Amino acid sequence: MDTFKLPPLRTASGEIRLPGSKSISNRMLLLAALAHGTTEIRDLLDSDDTRVMLAALQGVGVGITALGGNAWRIAGCGGVFPVKDADLFMGNAGTAIRPLTAALALSGGHYRLSGVPRMHERPIGDLVDGLRQIGADVRYAGNAGFPPLAIHPAEARLDAPIRLRGDVSSQFLTALLMALPLTGRQAVIEMTTELISRPYVEITLKLMARFGVEVEREGWQRFTIAAGQRYRSPGILHVEGDASSASYFLAAGAIGGGPVRVEGIGRDSIQGDLRFADELEKLGATITWGDNWIEASAPRRKLKAFDLDLNHIPDAAMTLAVAALFADGPCRLRNIASWRVKETDRIAAMATELRKLGAKVEEGDDHIAVSPPPTFVAGAVIDTYDDHRMAMCFSLAALGGVPVTINDPACVNKTFPGYFDAFAEVAAPVIAIDGPSASGKGTVAERVAAAFGYHYLDSGSLYRLTALAGQRTGRALDDEAGLATLAASLPARFSAGRIYLNEDDVTDAIRSEEISVGASKVAALPAVRAALLGRQRAYRRFPGLVADGRDMASVVFPGAVAKVFLTASAAARAERRYKQLIAKGMPANMHALLQDLQDRDARDAQRSVAPLRQCDDADLVETTEMAIEAAVAAVMAIAKRQGL
Ligand code: DC
Repeated sequence: MDTFKLPPLRTASGEIRLPGSKSISNRMLLLAALAHGTTEIRDLLDSDDTRVMLAALQGVGVGITALGGNAWRIAGCGGVFPVKDADLFMGNAGTAIRPLTAALALSGGHYRLSGVPRMHERPIGDLVDGLRQIGADVRYAGNAGFPPLAIHPAEARLDAPIRLRGDVSSQFLTALLMALPLTGRQAVIEMTTELISRPYVEITLKLMARFGVEVEREGWQRFTIAAGQRYRSPGILHVEGDASSASYFLAAGAIGGGPVRVEGIGRDSIQGDLRFADELEKLGATITWGDNWIEASAPRRKLKAFDLDLNHIPDAAMTLAVAALFADGPCRLRNIASWRVKETDRIAAMATELRKLGAKVEEGDDHIAVSPPPTFVAGAVIDTYDDHRMAMCFSLAALGGVPVTINDPACVNKTFPGYFDAFAEVAAPVIAIDGPSASGKGTVAERVAAAFGYHYLDSGSLYRLTALAGQRTGRALDDEAGLATLAASLPARFSAGRIYLNEDDVTDAIRSEEISVGASKVAALPAVRAALLGRQRAYRRFPGLVADGRDMASVVFPGAVAKVFLTASAAARAERRYKQLIAKGMPANMHALLQDLQDRDARDAQRSVAPLRQCDDADLVETTEMAIEAAVAAVMAIAKRQGL
């Protein structure tokens, strides 16, 4: 089995852009397909569950075009699917099979819907009962109450309210609400039980309204769709970032100090799981809200014990179960019975896996109680039960300072392909080494990286590559916009100690004095620095990163675990550069080298953005009188003191 080994982690800070919301993506796709007119959906989530929905809609004849960059064009069929007979595979995507079942049952065709074995264990009986009340012909092709299903044409009768249970999944109500406007007649749904997960129903109602259909709601008991309403495309729509996915990062900020910022959701987002941030605040985290971001940090590094009703955020609540490991006392998560019928029996799975980390866990039908371990068990191997959220929330356990192995990590693809890379961008430890030109920081950084088994980023090479690419394409060194565009899409490749621009080996070319001067000039351009920021941060991978440059500690990785300012006198540095050049058989002039170095130091230190400086929290390593081995040993000692 594939595994992902997380190293021991202690801190988390940084920023990530969230993938699109699964709940919104799949609802928008279906509504766009049912609407009159063409809809362009931007920032759609690219994951297993949205692919299931896209493939199913294509299977029933909906015109779908990929526009690139997660944008899609959906040619609405006005509620009439062109293909009248189809077999549709729904994987394990609850947000696809439920609303599609309802829509297909009202669209006059023969359809068979099936999924993976777990999908055939997830109840759908309440929805089928609801549909049968209005005369729909939906039959069980396997066990009664569960997919697979066979659907046949039938005339809908809407003379009486549909009576529907809402205590197993709110998606049954969502499915009916989205499908009923296809009848064109007045439809009423009455809940016969308490409705769970209400915020998800709110998402449904808000998105239906965007497509022109209003639902009248009396409390959470009765929903009326007036006759004659039709879905109409609103044109272009954007999918918000996924609030459930945000929970892992916000929790990381609360557990690992932070600040961790998630981008793509904010104070006006329509997703209920946003309320996870409020719950995290009750645990002692500091939460800051922006229009399009949320940030979490933890002033005290220990979370407060909690006892919470989490019915309104069942998915994000899983993250709180793992956060309970970091609390200062026993915690209780209540009113979460829906966990039993999700991708796996999440109450049982959570209890089993939390115990592996040393927690005491008590599980009930609709709750789970977690007593944090006195010390985390090192080396736990976590099973994920083909459940994306198990994999993602248990990655947080490594912040207990212990290695954790996640089995079958690819299950995250259901909603968040690339999750572990994103998690690394806030949690992988960074050793930042800054200093002036020719201070030896490159050699030191490479050796420290090798000693720890970490990745290595030579950030100066990116500025050098930008200068070289600029020179080769005839750009002036003050063409800020042109150079920034170049920097943003630099065709650079690092392989086996060599550096390539396209297929050209430029390892030596970027070290010439001319390019050194050019690099220092392009590095003073704010737009170039901004263009290279994300690229540098993407080097932050597990098990860790050593990054060298001028602003590693101050700008690129301000949350670095260890920060070092490595320097030497200008004369010593000029002499080192002189020897390097001579050894490579390149021409060198000691006096000119010293002058160039001093000019460059001045430019790097005096520029307005990210000037070279020693951060207050960085340790100074002065290497004028030091051999390289001694400098390496000094940096290693600093890193080890920080627990690395
Ligand atoms: O470290 P180096 O000499 O290879 O860097 C080349 C130039 O790039 C140097 O003049 C300063 C600039 N630079 C920067 O501004 N910020 C960094 N993080 C790294 C390098």
